[in-house]
Amino acid sequence: MGGYILAIDQGTTSTRAIVFDGNQKIAGVGQKEFKQHFPKSGWVEHDPEEIWQTVVSTVKEAIDKSGITANDIAAIGITNQRETVVVWDRETGKPIHNAIVWQDRRTAAFCDKLKKKGLEKTFVKKTGLLLDPYFSGTKLNWLLSNVKGAQARAAKGELCFGTIDTFLIWRLTGGKCFCTDATNASRTLLYNIAENAWDDELTEILRVPKEMLPEVKDCAADFGVTEPSLFGAAIPILGVAGDQQAATIGQACFKPGMLKSTYGTGCFALLNTGKDMVRSKNRLLTTIAYRLDGETTYALEGSIFVAGAAVQWLRDGLKVIKAAPDTGSLAESADPSQEVYLVPAFTGLGAPHWDPDARGAIFGMTRNTGPAEFARAALEAVCYQTRDLLEAMHKDWRRNGNDTVLRVDGGMVASDWTMQRLSDLLDAPVDRPVILETTALGVAWLAGSRAGVWPNQEAFAKSWARDRRFEPHMDEATRKVKLKGWRSAVKRTLIAA
Ligand code: G3P
Repeated sequence: MGGYILAIDQGTTSTRAIVFDGNQKIAGVGQKEFKQHFPKSGWVEHDPEEIWQTVVSTVKEAIDKSGITANDIAAIGITNQRETVVVWDRETGKPIHNAIVWQDRRTAAFCDKLKKKGLEKTFVKKTGLLLDPYFSGTKLNWLLSNVKGAQARAAKGELCFGTIDTFLIWRLTGGKCFCTDATNASRTLLYNIAENAWDDELTEILRVPKEMLPEVKDCAADFGVTEPSLFGAAIPILGVAGDQQAATIGQACFKPGMLKSTYGTGCFALLNTGKDMVRSKNRLLTTIAYRLDGETTYALEGSIFVAGAAVQWLRDGLKVIKAAPDTGSLAESADPSQEVYLVPAFTGLGAPHWDPDARGAIFGMTRNTGPAEFARAALEAVCYQTRDLLEAMHKDWRRNGNDTVLRVDGGMVASDWTMQRLSDLLDAPVDRPVILETTALGVAWLAGSRAGVWPNQEAFAKSWARDRRFEPHMDEATRKVKLKGWRSAVKRTLIAA
């Protein structure tokens, strides 16, 4: 069977490569975790060389497991953790520093300084983003100011900046293609999302020489071909999108009003707003959902920094669970009479609070509180935060009324208990699709449709299938008490308030 598409999903804690066959079914998967570096409190780095190695090895693994060769692959799609910054030498291809990860808070003081100068309005207007360390621009400024000679070398065109997609495209094509796509560019604080261009004023404020910026393409476009020495064939790269935008596509949220939420390391909810660049009055982001055939579709986004990461913390930090999938059943056994709240602000709080200095807190513990209550508090925190995002979205965008169904994906949604609790706390239905690999599927569709071997957008959207719908069962009084407890816990955690 032809029509094989390889999706590379370079995430925050692991790299995955997935081969899909011509029927959009998974034929083989390669996966590898890599090291997280925490050089100081609130700092998070990755080694770009290690990321690159995981990409090469997982691609080979996925191809092997599929029982095909690289020659059978019609095209590659790349999706990635967004905002993470890599700077490398244009000549040697060597990074000049570790990648600074989206979760890293080292530029909080610089963001404050820019805000005090009254610049946030300018950034919001042009990029749809806020002045928070989350985004690439201030991280890039930090690298250029702190790596010896970097600023001058960048101005001479000796250095390249990229989010992870750009770095991988560069490496995969043997340095022949220096480009990114509109979704990744839209997360940098340097890209004007209305004009679809790097912005002179913003690059000047952040002291980023334009010489080091990649070309920005549509999400389905020609991103070069792989060096044949890597996998044994020159495979065209035809699709690229940031992972949350790829999930939006994989969930077939193509119509305005459609909404998805992905539960990976963090949780990111995107509401398709169509051709309208909706300006949030409630501290959400306006971002590019995808750009196809030169036409931009926008989204409102709510970003929560810790979702699956809280489960990881239960496993690796507290060591109260052995494996992540145990969390749901442990939470189910928690004492219903205890109201324990975990505010997982391990790396600050994202939307709608945007408090980079807040740190995690637990409220409501008694002598009877144990692992089960911690597990429930961690999972409920993700549900409460999703509710906060949806409430903000509904205030910003009322067009469909407030009856949008949330499509969910990501590792955590495999737990029935968590999804039921999510529906209960949202007081809204939650749809879980049959294919949970929506991020990889989304970018595979971009590449596959561009290659002409996968269905068009309409047919792809029709093929989206629901595994299960979760309907709210919690009584109103219980929900009210729980939400009140959560809000008070958040209030007590915020520093910026
Ligand atoms: O914006 C950060 C996001 O792209 C990271 O996604 O799946 O690695 O948590 P994930």
